[in-house]
Amino acid sequence: MKKIAVFTSGGDSPGMNACIRAVVRTGIYHGLDVYGIMSGYEGMINGDIIPLDSSSVSGIIQRGGTILKSARSKRFMTPEGRKQAYDNLKKHGIDGIVAIGGDGTFKGASVFMEEYPDVPFIGLPGTIDNDLIGTDFTIGYDTAINTVVEAVDKLRDTAASHDRLFFVEVMGKDAGFIALRSGVAVGAEAILVPETETHIDKLINLLDKGWRKNKKSSIIIVAEGDDEGGAYEIAAKVKEKFDHYDTRVTVLGHIQRGGNPTCSDRVLASKMGYEAVKALVEGRKSEMVGVVDKKVTYTPFENAIKHTTKLESSLLELAEILSM
Ligand code: F6P
Repeated sequence: MKKIAVFTSGGDSPGMNACIRAVVRTGIYHGLDVYGIMSGYEGMINGDIIPLDSSSVSGIIQRGGTILKSARSKRFMTPEGRKQAYDNLKKHGIDGIVAIGGDGTFKGASVFMEEYPDVPFIGLPGTIDNDLIGTDFTIGYDTAINTVVEAVDKLRDTAASHDRLFFVEVMGKDAGFIALRSGVAVGAEAILVPETETHIDKLINLLDKGWRKNKKSSIIIVAEGDDEGGAYEIAAKVKEKFDHYDTRVTVLGHIQRGGNPTCSDRVLASKMGYEAVKALVEGRKSEMVGVVDKKVTYTPFENAIKHTTKLESSLLELAEILSM
């Protein structure tokens, strides 16, 4: 292996830059030429592939976003797009790839590798959602939940001052990892996630109980993919039957994707970037590098994206008990 390339794809996540830095510098350590592919699979199709050296990744470990930019590529879903991408990789003599992203990124890599098995891919979990099998934490998740905690602490102040009920929507269209962990950390009165069925009546009961106990304000965390809808929808359904509280809705949105990565995310990203290059050099392919119980693991792409990751049931239970 002489030339490797790294790219970021799908929703960006804080720590991607720290990861790129680790890939580039570990690659150089192993005597490889390292290239960056701009804007994920789009750049692969367009041939937007640039050489990276140690100084290209100076001063980025602390920066959110990704210097290589990111995209969700529709063209890569077509055989023509993938062929063009392959031709560009060959033109640049790329013999190995580190793909940093989430499930869409690995789905793309899987299909591509079936058609073009001579370019090995190693994946790294870069997504705030934490919804991949084969790693305890994904790069960016810790920063995102800390962003949520900081924001909700602020909302708690104003909720208490005005005796209000706040519905706060956090990201996670298929998974409730962001909602659950941040919800526990902010002492949310309820946490609504896609993995468990939401019952509006049960939620109203809980609020009513609080109301009777003279609870003046409450925070409900709603994952955007909850089965009863987003925060606006759920707030309206509650209001229809229970209007004791003055209610407000806050959608935190893309603020969760930005910001300087936390110490945990920087270290995780650095470790994973280093391990990904090592894996390529050792001849591994079509696997996502993860860290489980502090140990490095390799999960085939098709398993990593299975969406069968379970929420920590003990945290769900704890959240319910502590919110009373
Ligand atoms: O996958 C990361 C994520 O931030 C999800 O939590 C969210 O549902 C989605 O991306 C939003 O995507 P976009 O930035 O394309 O609107």
